[in-house]
Amino acid sequence: MNILETDDYEAMSRQAANILFAQVVLHPESVLGLATGSTPLGIYRRLAELYQQGDVDFSRIRSVNLDEYCGLGPNDPQSYHRFMEENLFRLINIPEENTSLPDGMAVDTDAECARYDRRIQELGGIDLQLLGIGNTGHIGFNEPGCNFEMSTHRVVLAPETRRANARFFQNPDEVPCYAITMGIKNIMSARKILLAVNGKGKAEVLAKALFGPVTPQVPASILQLHPDVTVVADRDALSRLPVGSRAVIE
Ligand code: F6R
Repeated sequence: MNILETDDYEAMSRQAANILFAQVVLHPESVLGLATGSTPLGIYRRLAELYQQGDVDFSRIRSVNLDEYCGLGPNDPQSYHRFMEENLFRLINIPEENTSLPDGMAVDTDAECARYDRRIQELGGIDLQLLGIGNTGHIGFNEPGCNFEMSTHRVVLAPETRRANARFFQNPDEVPCYAITMGIKNIMSARKILLAVNGKGKAEVLAKALFGPVTPQVPASILQLHPDVTVVADRDALSRLPVGSRAVIE
């Protein structure tokens, strides 16, 4: 695992964007696994800038997102479809048909999960998966106690996750209770993983994920077993690491 420390959120965003940028420049037909939430906003902003400067071409990139809320259609302002559209897709030249997210409106969620797994397979798997980490230690919406063997599936969101995500909704009761998420198996099958983390609020869970025991109680801890993980985290997020662990940070 490669851990890169940056001064702040802005520097984390630039550093992580550089890694995605390099992937796209070197391998323009890459399959990118994408995340939503507050963490990647600066990364997407930076990628859009690089595109607008003419430095990178996304026309042959394919993308698959980690998750989507159940019950929210693509035009719902709180859906992850809409988030991706507003914060990345419409700012770069990725063709719409090259982008995939789970369908939160699917009536048969099992069939939708199977379709999503097939889609990832048809694309040849994920070359680089961008992740954030939740306060619960979740990656995607794989909450504590998850099964490391699962591929795409429907989950019940942890109360803490619903509380954390309430900031995006007008009323906390509007936060959906269910989501469709890639499973740990999909995430671990990605050839490379980029975990971006910022802020003191994530420091404790990040320390557990990177240096604690590998356990479903801290879903992100599974990343310790992946052969190619880069963590880009700001100083605040790395402020609670166990004594002695700083030696591995660049
Ligand atoms: C988002 C996702 C989640 C977030 C995590 C952190 O697609 O799958 O795992 O990465 O909840 O969210 P933020 O960045 O908002 O703190």
